[in-house]
Amino acid sequence: MLEIADKTQRLGRHELDFYETPAWLTLLTLAHIPFSGTIGEPCAGHGAIASIMKEAGFKTWLNDIDSTKPADYHGDATKPQHWKTLPQADWIFSNPPYGDLSAPIVQNAYQHARQGVVMVLRLNWLEVCADRVNFIKHHPPTMIINVPRFCYTKSAKGKWATDQCPTNIYCWDKSNTSGLTRIVSLSKDDIPLFYRTPDEAPTFEQVREEIPRRINKLANPSGRRRTIEDWQKILDTDKPAY
Ligand SMILES: C[S@@+](CC[C@H](N)C(=O)[O-])C[C@H]1O[C@@H](n2cnc3c(N)ncnc32)[C@H](O)[C@@H]1O
Repeated sequence: MLEIADKTQRLGRHELDFYETPAWLTLLTLAHIPFSGTIGEPCAGHGAIASIMKEAGFKTWLNDIDSTKPADYHGDATKPQHWKTLPQADWIFSNPPYGDLSAPIVQNAYQHARQGVVMVLRLNWLEVCADRVNFIKHHPPTMIINVPRFCYTKSAKGKWATDQCPTNIYCWDKSNTSGLTRIVSLSKDDIPLFYRTPDEAPTFEQVREEIPRRINKLANPSGRRRTIEDWQKILDTDKPAY
């Protein structure tokens, strides 16, 4: 642990790469991805993503390697053996630590998820590095949501600063076998509740109010098979995706 702490201080990153995902980013994902059933969060931190998914009606389980974090399970998501101890999930949705740990975590998540995976990762995650080239070759993401840079860390002078590389949302939807990647590029004006620094974050009450307006038409929190009446209701709903 000490060794990790020394390294992260030198790099100016938080221990275990703990950063909270901004609420607007989870809401945006909720608007674009047809989540269903149970959502697993393998690097849950304080539950920034999972709390919104739970509020939207999904069953969730949370894992984090850090035993001080309020998760259901505490284990290393880079290890395939640990995933064998985690419950099943229709979708895995996380903002994992970046750097070398992200490739094994994304690949384990892909093996584990029944329907799909959503990960918050750096824009350069698609670089064909040895630890993920085969995975990217065989499983190109089905969607990338390209968002403006935001601040989640402070500079040595204590001011909010952006990362060296922008952060995006990557989705692998197993029901989409087209082999094509859809890229959705959004400016800050396209993103309701967007904020650039955590100081501008809305309250959880404000976030909660947004959820019904955002949730994707095809999302299915109950995970049960849909009836004709369900489909009729979906087709009759005329609200925008976000
Ligand atoms: C970028 S933070 C994101 C936290 C949370 N997902 C969120 O969106 O607010 C990454 C989290 O991954 C956890 N973590 C780091 N290494 C891990 C590992 N090998 N297995 C599981 N969790 C890990 C850290 O403790 C930290 O809480």
